[in-house]
Amino acid sequence: MRPRRHPIQFQFPKVKRWRVRRPAHELANDVEYVNKYNLAYERMNALPADDPRSFLRQWHVHCAFCRDAYLQRRLNFSATGFPLQLHYSWTFLPWHRMLIYFHEKILGSLIHDPDFTLPFWNWDNQLDATAAQIPQIFLPYNQTQRHARRHARIRNTFLYQGKHRNADHMPPEILPLAWEARRENWTRDKIREENLHQMYTMVVDKKSAREFMGGPYTTNTNITDPQRPGVSVGESGSCESVHDHAHEWVGLSGNTDHPDNEDMGVFTYAGRDPLFYSHHANIDRLWNVWKALPPGDGQRKRKDYDDHDFLETVFEFFDENQDLVQVKVKDTLDSRKLGILYQPMVHSDSLWINHKP
Ligand code: C2O
Repeated sequence: MRPRRHPIQFQFPKVKRWRVRRPAHELANDVEYVNKYNLAYERMNALPADDPRSFLRQWHVHCAFCRDAYLQRRLNFSATGFPLQLHYSWTFLPWHRMLIYFHEKILGSLIHDPDFTLPFWNWDNQLDATAAQIPQIFLPYNQTQRHARRHARIRNTFLYQGKHRNADHMPPEILPLAWEARRENWTRDKIREENLHQMYTMVVDKKSAREFMGGPYTTNTNITDPQRPGVSVGESGSCESVHDHAHEWVGLSGNTDHPDNEDMGVFTYAGRDPLFYSHHANIDRLWNVWKALPPGDGQRKRKDYDDHDFLETVFEFFDENQDLVQVKVKDTLDSRKLGILYQPMVHSDSLWINHKP
């Protein structure tokens, strides 16, 4: 099918079956899934660079919208002169939701599996020892492991191959959600305990949309420091701050040949690591968890912003047919309308939900 020349308006998918995203650490022995996931990426990677579905272009979309590559537009489509930056504000959650939505659709279409879903990296889970590690499916499968025969059938080509990641943070290390953990060399037990505390503080304890999602970002807001291009003066929500830890920790920080902390640790390269999309699936899931929390203590239920400026913000993405699609924020707020469910993680979620200090 030839791509259309003009942008089309986003339409909700017709949901015949739910597409259920599953936790990455539970998929390590699912030979069929891991091979499919790899194959989808191999095909995506083999597309020519001028195809918006290609891995290169998918990675570059993330890079462009966090490195001031475009200018904001008004509704009449004239440019405002201010760089477009989709982090550090209320656009962070909706924009990344749609980024992974289209990414996942493209992967699924390349393997002719409309039900394909990305796995989520369930790093908030302190119940399963492997959940907060870099998931096995993004690492080379080691033939000496317990399920060696099954693993021998796993073709883990693209998800691992040559990724720039910090060698000191491989399993059994777990992702710490507090900055002190690395400076002070905490034990894994201490990290787990503190992770629960961080999750409580960053998710449960944030009652307003502004605290959790980030500050307003409207036409004529410049959140890029005019003196220091590329440096933001925006207002991140707690969900974004907690998400930063995974980026920093996975990247090659401190390696003198790679001072930029690529891939995951820097905007420019983050989208080059397939783990990035799985990390964002968990952030996306946590947005749902936040909204579903019971009000408690006489508080009102946690709700998204309802400002007109927020709801009417428009993003553009290429879809699996190479069409350019315009999506409004108001269409992104309920992931069920996108046909997406998350496998419930009741026990591990409630561990931090109930971790009141
Ligand atoms: Cu666009 Cu995890 O950042």
